[in-house]
Amino acid sequence: MKRIFSGVKPTGHLTLGNYLGAVRQWVEVDQYAADALFSVVDLHALTVEHDPARVTRLSRQAATLLLAAGLDPERCTVFVQSHVDEHARLSYLMECVATDGEMRRMIQYKEKSVRARESGQGVRLALLTYPALMAADILAYATDEVPVGEDQTQHVELARDLAVRFNQRYGQVFTVPKATHPKVAARVMDLQDPTSKMGKSHENGSGIVYLLDDADTVRRKIMRAVTDSGREVVYDPEVSPGVANLADLLAAATGCRDVAELAATYDSYGALKKDTAEAVVELLRPVRERHAELAADPAYVEKVLRAGAERARGMARPVVDRAYRAIGLLPAF
Ligand code: TYM
Repeated sequence: MKRIFSGVKPTGHLTLGNYLGAVRQWVEVDQYAADALFSVVDLHALTVEHDPARVTRLSRQAATLLLAAGLDPERCTVFVQSHVDEHARLSYLMECVATDGEMRRMIQYKEKSVRARESGQGVRLALLTYPALMAADILAYATDEVPVGEDQTQHVELARDLAVRFNQRYGQVFTVPKATHPKVAARVMDLQDPTSKMGKSHENGSGIVYLLDDADTVRRKIMRAVTDSGREVVYDPEVSPGVANLADLLAAATGCRDVAELAATYDSYGALKKDTAEAVVELLRPVRERHAELAADPAYVEKVLRAGAERARGMARPVVDRAYRAIGLLPAF
């Protein structure tokens, strides 16, 4: 059976982008099709300025939301990254295989390091080495597929390169993974700035739909989405990115596969927004309701995470031990 690994970083409340670009695919397809692991990758949340109590809170919330969205701990492994030491252990080896040039070429590093510098906080070294840890996350589990939104493609490509390089130099240890993306909504855009991705760590939340927003908030954000001054509803992400984003959301929320055809059935932006808002409200309603139930039962969530970490450890340890031996480290006596 193929192995799948993916993760979500607790740097903010999970968004509709996280859900449509990744989590929904994990819930609806991946957990049935593969031996799958899904992680709240909390170590990654420390790569930018952070508030410790907030990261703790968001990690618990993200784990609860993954279960609320429908990950079934009987079918897949749900765990918190920092509970499994193998990630940090393997990350160091990845740093010994990667070059600093490779790390500096990463688009997310370029964007986030500029932001960190501008805010006067300095760039954490871990922001640069982030992709080494992400490669370790993936490679520690002999992962075949990594279901992610489009923004993560470059990082997964780097994990592939590092796996191939390690195997060539030190012997066959790692499975070479590949990224997979959902057919629609692999890149959900910000409702107020449809040329940039809907991201959980943006300061201004009015263009972002959070999974835990109540129905009226979701409606308001979608009804106020930026479109353009044109009149006709035409699906053209280049010319009308705001309209295309709404059509993508509507298609993703209703399961429609032909976005352009769907857009063509509308004769006003207002009607498109209204239908999109209702479809998204209905899509998120069960997740929000289930989250409220699970949040009231933290002991259950903790039990799932404890069992998940144990299972994950059992899978990662032999792979990481093999990598340690292959690269020349003396096994512990
Ligand atoms: P993160 O936490 O930013 O996002 C989690 C998942 O959601 C997807 N995503 C989106 N998809 C479509 N449209 C959007 N606007 C949007 N925003 C986010 C992301 O592509 C991702 O799949 N580096 C990763 C976390 C990570 C990871 C890993 C993922 C760490 N190690 C190993 C896979 C495998 C990240 O920052 O995701």
